[in-house]
Amino acid sequence: MSFSRQMGTGLLLCSAILAGCGERAATSDAKPDASGAAQVEAAGGDISVWPKLEPALPKDPAVEARIDELMAQMSLEEKVGQLIQPEIKYVTPEDVKKYHLGSILNGGGSYPHNNKLASPQEWHALSEAFYEASMDTSDGGTAIPIIWGSDAVHGHNNVMGATLFPHNIGLGAARDPDLIRRIGEATAREVAVTGIDWTFSPTVAVVRDDRWGRTYESYSEDPAVVKAYAEAMVKGTQGEKGSENFLGGEKLVATAKHWIGDGGTQRGIDRGDNQVPEKELAEVHAAGYYGALPAGVQAVMASFNSWNGDRLHGHKYLLTDVLKERLGFDGFVVGDWNGHKFVPGCTVDSCAAAINAGLDMFMVPSDWKELYKNTLAQAQSGEIRAERLDDAVRRILRVKVRAGLFEHDRPLAGKKDIVGNDEHRALAREAVRKSLVLLKNNDQLLPLKPTQNILVAGDGADNLAKQSGGWTITWQGTGTTREDFPGATSIFEGIEEAVKGAGGEAVLSEQGEFAADSFANGEKPDVAIVVFGENPYAEWHGDLSSLEYQVATKADLALLKKLKSQGIPVVSVFLSGRVLWVNKEMNASDAFVAAWLPGSEGAGVADVLFTDAEGNVRHEFTGTLPFSWPEQVHQAVLNPYHQDYEPLFELGYGLQYGEESLVSNELTEDGQTYADGALEDAWMLVSRPRSPWQLQITEAGQAPVTVAGNRAASGDDENITVASIDMESQEDARRIQWKGLRPGSVMLAAEQPQDLSRYLKEGAALTLDIRVDSKPEQPVNAVIACGEDCTAELPLQNALQALQPGEWQKLSIDLQCFVDKGADFSRVSNAMALRSEGALDLAVANIKYVPKAAEDAEIRCQG
Ligand code: BGC
Ligand code: BGC
Repeated sequence: MSFSRQMGTGLLLCSAILAGCGERAATSDAKPDASGAAQVEAAGGDISVWPKLEPALPKDPAVEARIDELMAQMSLEEKVGQLIQPEIKYVTPEDVKKYHLGSILNGGGSYPHNNKLASPQEWHALSEAFYEASMDTSDGGTAIPIIWGSDAVHGHNNVMGATLFPHNIGLGAARDPDLIRRIGEATAREVAVTGIDWTFSPTVAVVRDDRWGRTYESYSEDPAVVKAYAEAMVKGTQGEKGSENFLGGEKLVATAKHWIGDGGTQRGIDRGDNQVPEKELAEVHAAGYYGALPAGVQAVMASFNSWNGDRLHGHKYLLTDVLKERLGFDGFVVGDWNGHKFVPGCTVDSCAAAINAGLDMFMVPSDWKELYKNTLAQAQSGEIRAERLDDAVRRILRVKVRAGLFEHDRPLAGKKDIVGNDEHRALAREAVRKSLVLLKNNDQLLPLKPTQNILVAGDGADNLAKQSGGWTITWQGTGTTREDFPGATSIFEGIEEAVKGAGGEAVLSEQGEFAADSFANGEKPDVAIVVFGENPYAEWHGDLSSLEYQVATKADLALLKKLKSQGIPVVSVFLSGRVLWVNKEMNASDAFVAAWLPGSEGAGVADVLFTDAEGNVRHEFTGTLPFSWPEQVHQAVLNPYHQDYEPLFELGYGLQYGEESLVSNELTEDGQTYADGALEDAWMLVSRPRSPWQLQITEAGQAPVTVAGNRAASGDDENITVASIDMESQEDARRIQWKGLRPGSVMLAAEQPQDLSRYLKEGAALTLDIRVDSKPEQPVNAVIACGEDCTAELPLQNALQALQPGEWQKLSIDLQCFVDKGADFSRVSNAMALRSEGALDLAVANIKYVPKAAEDAEIRCQG
């Protein structure tokens, strides 16, 4: 059973330009072999599936003549410098002058002088220092203004006190391109105050698999919505092309990212492989570019992902033939955070192949000096073709000229009062109201009256970090406090405001507790509003292996049930960066609102939930689902173009006040049924530990250490350390070092025992990638535990000794081997541990149980 509603916004599911998107796309079986872009170009490339677009702006002879003049003066060193973009933690204005650097960025959670509290004026002062260094010709050379880029992805989110708009997924629910344009304008103004000229937004990913950790950066799974929004956001950020203020002093250079296919990687793995046929790449994943490019977007960011095995950063066909030639893009292509290093033959400090393929600027946060030197040498030797280098420089200069950087006209710079001003906050609050989607409303429980006793519960109720999500003050959105959000309003504060003066009372208790005297009138709560959901994350840290909400704890479900059992009607306000499987929580709620990640203006929630004192609705629910909502836990890829489209709520669904709620109170709570009855791989550590599994270090005599960040160690002597390292992508592996002072383990442990017996029945193997850096001289065991009284240890020393040191290899172990040693797979508390008695140095990645893999396992057991 699935619920739908006509979308009344004029944005059709499939627009004309996306002809064919209504058909179910065939899956590709023609995977080009590993020989790279040349192969795609020769065999796979079918340019006709891409629309032929004219450049958005006509060639301006005056602009081109100015560039000719500049380029005639520039040395090779100066040209190469334009291609290099370091991060502000690793570069000084002196470096900019000395190396003629063309650009800088601040990464997520990076601030002037490493100071989170830096004021807008301090941001501006630093931008001036960099600008002046770039224009300083006292040692000779050509003055070329530097361009600073920042991820202003939901407002100027690295700057304390800035207005934080809902993340893109919430904006998608509004189906209101004009709202998006106004948000682009407001964000540009706040960024302009800090002297920054360029934003790495909008993200125009069209997400297919909702487990992707960047789903919330996407406006919608519907290409038509992404297209319309990309256009509106570029217009808001840069101004209307042809108009007076296009790229003017209050505007920024915008970036459409990440070219291309970022939202379509296999299993939603961030930076993974997109395997769709070219037609689908063009019709679904490129949709946003058909909005952004004609609007005149000046920058495009290359994506980390690959397409059929070939990394975008080295993809000549997609970067040059398609984007620049077929789609007429005449701005520049910036790389993404060392993304060039994954191109075959490249390292972080050397990658001619990326430039030759069509990348124009390297985003190279810390290793820029070596990359600069090597790129210069490659330009001198001709390994980078002279025309290609000149073309890259020309594109960068073109954008700088168009954006007026030479004139250095910054009318808003330093005007700190614009940052987080009332007007911008009112706009964000409007966006919050429009982003809310009502999914369930039994007996018209909503709207609430502000004259009632309202119990406000849940750990999201008074929690600005949680309502703002990732890319907020810090990169992951974690580690912040209330003080990091000056001027912001939590959802609870908004509720309090709405009932104050109307005769009601709002009482906050995270745990949903109340006493006889909690409310002034001595009565019970009339209703509970429970605000709960995902904790902040960004990028691959947020990738999931299952769509099930709170796989590990179900703590919020317990809270909902507790309130219901006391006869209190429950309104759930769900904070999340994506649709999730919440059947159990929905069954336990009388009303359910998807609120996404609303940002700093939490009062927008109460604006819609509460009537005025007289009982009149103040704001209707107008939001409709930007993504299809799953009914079954396995529905991670759920889009209307699929023949077997059976969501719980269809794309575009959303109730209004007065409409009858149709969803059952008895949705299936079986989270184990898969589409075809098959078992998926059980992931324990893929990039990072997967819920419910946590990485832990344990050794005798020491408290266990949970590895949460990039590095952790056990004991004052750091006997055992675990650190994140790169195997195929950033931080996707863990290096584990034992000093051998005491025996100890590193394990993947769960709080609650997990029933993995189906894996045993289906002949699964434990598989991992492993690199042994020092051969073990003492016993090493692979361990699986099933509670205190139940462990199975398998000797591994010989197997590890047999591996080629320093090389990544696959290792797989038949699960049956652990049964022989006493494992009970119906209650696994530790899915995999390595226990070493002596010194050992190794690295692991991709730890999982793979069904039907026992037969081919390296280590087999008969049972
Ligand atoms: C930076 C982010 C960046 C990420 C890339 C972080 O350290 O702060 O801006 O996106 O690394 O992996
Ligand atoms: C992200 C980009 C971001 C960049 C700079 C990367 O890790 O993928 O979206 O713009 O970091 O922070």
